[in-house]
Amino acid sequence: MTSYQIFLFLHSWIRWFILVLGLVVIIKSYSGWFGNKPYLKGDNGMSAGFIGLLHLNLLIGLILYFFLSPYVQQAFSDFGAAMRDSYLRFWAVEHIAVNIIAVVVAQIGRARSKRATTDVAKHKTAAIFYTIAMVLLLSRIPWGEAERWFRGL
Ligand code: HEM
Repeated sequence: MTSYQIFLFLHSWIRWFILVLGLVVIIKSYSGWFGNKPYLKGDNGMSAGFIGLLHLNLLIGLILYFFLSPYVQQAFSDFGAAMRDSYLRFWAVEHIAVNIIAVVVAQIGRARSKRATTDVAKHKTAAIFYTIAMVLLLSRIPWGEAERWFRGL
């Protein structure tokens, strides 16, 4: 088992935890916003967990990107040619750029939601920013390759 396989496995599975927890947090935020509900400790905890998992996968992604992924290495060996190859361009540019933006959007949302002074404003801020982050994440996951869905070691 290589370190590439281990990091890819972790990165791939953490994706599902991010998507499921993110979906729960988003649904609860909209329900809190439109239902005028209190912002509970559990809401704060789940929001923190969502951000924590995003940062963890960002870190693992950076390790894959700079040290382990053969696709990224191939892309950097001839960057000009890689930009004309949609598969290599996806791994060298699109996946990293859009996902980093998604993490930043989510992080800004978390900070603003914490600072908001009313419970409804906390829910509303989380709902809007996390929805944008989620759409960005979903748009740059390689759904077309079934072998990447539930990766084994
Ligand atoms: C934070 C949200 C992110 C999510 C949800 C995510 C999701 C994924 C998924 C589902 C895969 C396919 C895994 C597989 O083949 O089983 C993947 C691969 C990869 N991701 Fe991410 N990713 C994220 C962020 C990043 C970031 C920020 C980087 C770069 C810094 C990155 C770099 C990579 C690399 C290099 C690969 C492996 C390509 C390969 O060698 O096959 N990811 N990512």
